[in-house]
Amino acid sequence: MANPIEVLLKEKRTFKPPKAFAAHAVAQPRIYKDATNPVRFWEKEARALDWFKPWRKALEWKPPYAKWFVGGKLNVSYNCLDRHVAGPRRTKAALIWEGEPGDTRTLTYWDLYREVNRFAAALRQQGVRKGARVTIYLPMVPEAAIAMLACTRIGAPHNVVFGGFSPDALRERIRDSESTVLVTADGGYRRGGVVPLKKNADEALLECPTVKTVVVLKRTGQDVPMQRGRDVWWDEFVKEAAAYCKPEPMDAEDLLYLLYTSGSTGKPKGIIHTTGGYLTGVTATTRYIFDLHEGDTFWCTADVGWVTGHSYVVYGPLANGATSVMYEGTPDWPDKDRFWRIVEKHGVSILYTAPTAIRTFMRWGEKYPEQCDLSSLRLLGSVGEPINPEAWVWYWRVIGGGRCPVVDTWWQTETGHILITPLPGVTVCKPGSATKPFPGVDAAVLDDHGKPAKAGYLVLRQPWPGMLRGIWGDPERYVKQYWSRYKDIYFTGDGAKLDEDGYFWLLGRVDDVINVSGHRVSTMEVESALVDHPLVAESAVIGRSHEIKGQALAAFVTVKEGVATSLELGDELKAHVVKKIGALARPDDIIFSADLPKTRSGKIMRRLLRDIAEGRALGDTTTLADPAVVASLKAKYEEQE
Ligand code: WT7
Repeated sequence: MANPIEVLLKEKRTFKPPKAFAAHAVAQPRIYKDATNPVRFWEKEARALDWFKPWRKALEWKPPYAKWFVGGKLNVSYNCLDRHVAGPRRTKAALIWEGEPGDTRTLTYWDLYREVNRFAAALRQQGVRKGARVTIYLPMVPEAAIAMLACTRIGAPHNVVFGGFSPDALRERIRDSESTVLVTADGGYRRGGVVPLKKNADEALLECPTVKTVVVLKRTGQDVPMQRGRDVWWDEFVKEAAAYCKPEPMDAEDLLYLLYTSGSTGKPKGIIHTTGGYLTGVTATTRYIFDLHEGDTFWCTADVGWVTGHSYVVYGPLANGATSVMYEGTPDWPDKDRFWRIVEKHGVSILYTAPTAIRTFMRWGEKYPEQCDLSSLRLLGSVGEPINPEAWVWYWRVIGGGRCPVVDTWWQTETGHILITPLPGVTVCKPGSATKPFPGVDAAVLDDHGKPAKAGYLVLRQPWPGMLRGIWGDPERYVKQYWSRYKDIYFTGDGAKLDEDGYFWLLGRVDDVINVSGHRVSTMEVESALVDHPLVAESAVIGRSHEIKGQALAAFVTVKEGVATSLELGDELKAHVVKKIGALARPDDIIFSADLPKTRSGKIMRRLLRDIAEGRALGDTTTLADPAVVASLKAKYEEQE
């Protein structure tokens, strides 16, 4: 019998929404018509939030800066908590958390409300005022959400740093944001081991003069030094704090948070998100795209260190009064069925994860999901990189049992919320396509001259509420990065194709950003980490396709005069990158070369390096200063394979 996935792919099958699902779906087909006036559509969605003061003007658009809901006042934690505890959701589960070792905690909306109030009151007591930045470096524990919400309650913008980042990466983000408080933990559990968060934090803090207070959560119980006058245990910190902390009325355009992401230079950018538009965007998209109903249990598997965790673990679900699942560890601990055990145990009905995870599950085999009861699932989502049709169909068939719509959602740290996506119950899906812009979103594909095209660059022609409001401390880079390719049009950095039905097919980044397992890594950042090693003279890093990760990093390295290369040196360089940035940036290959292919003007020809790393025939080499370099590199690469 033929493999059912291959048959579906060969038939180029489209997937219509199941009738029973469509009948009860939050999104109904008329939603696209309702959004023909986008501003009015977003205003209607904003009214679903609680405002202390209504806005005067829905949109003020002075490219490249948009202001949404001008003059309006609201508070994010109030919208995520206070308005729910005032009604029947008071005892509903807000967070269902599972630690990697198997410990679980459920916090009702009331529990979460209390915890957030106390932590907010303690921060305020510590002198943290509206506008003061707080860096959060925590594992995936409820306290991560508590700290974030507490910051929003007092109007202190948070800067969450992924727990997998190195001390150097943490230091850079604390320094750039000029945070006065750091919230961290002794450690976190990951794949059976312990991540030394406090140790990393101490190392980072050696050069962070702005940080006056470090709040340390006890998670693992490992021994950590506490610096007198600076470090305080979480429990001590909140002990005397008031049970209620009045939410700060925030202007719709007040800074809500910073989140650092890689761009095409070596320095991460602090993406600026503000309050009213962002909350409107995440709340509406969560409800429509994940078809949220009162009884759902929603699990977004992203870490809160990424924007997906901000928008779809914390703010989107909680603003909607939903139950959000949080898991601390990896999918293979203690065994490769951990995700499916969690789905079964907590009755997860909506699962939102990444293509790289789905491809990993495919490789592990069907026996792991098969041994668990996944019948509670009714909707599946994907995000982070293009999902290959094979993985889409596998997800739909094996995890969704052929019953659950799959939503492939495109967005970015900069966009704040999902912008291109199917609507479950409405959209006919084509595996591999993120389908259509969300209602009220004006996405297009343009050619080099700014003309609409079948293939080219993905752009956004009109502002949307959750869009970034700039790059922290670097307005020039904001303009250069996003607004200089086309006039008054946002450039995403992605390539895309449009098919005959107007469906969008994402083709990946067109800049020097590599999407490794759905995480953004800049080639320049890795290159500067490599040349930071004392034995390295020069390096060029490129992305090559990888079966599981989507893309993997290959680093071409020239060592200094007289240095002998070896496998050990290769490993040492990989470790150096991990130390400088974090494990997510570890190159898969290090290729030593006496020289790099350069044009006569000295520019490294990355296209040729990509050809070499992917084993393709070499493109045009006539512009090279020394064509022999490429041939010798190619031979070397093949030898190493
Ligand atoms: C880049 C943004 C915000 C989601 C997490 C990643 C790629 C994201 C898709 C998708 C194809 C996708 C794009 C985008 N991407 N989702 N469904 N299909 N590509 O956030 O780190 O800001 O990365 O991820 O290349 O530009 P991020």
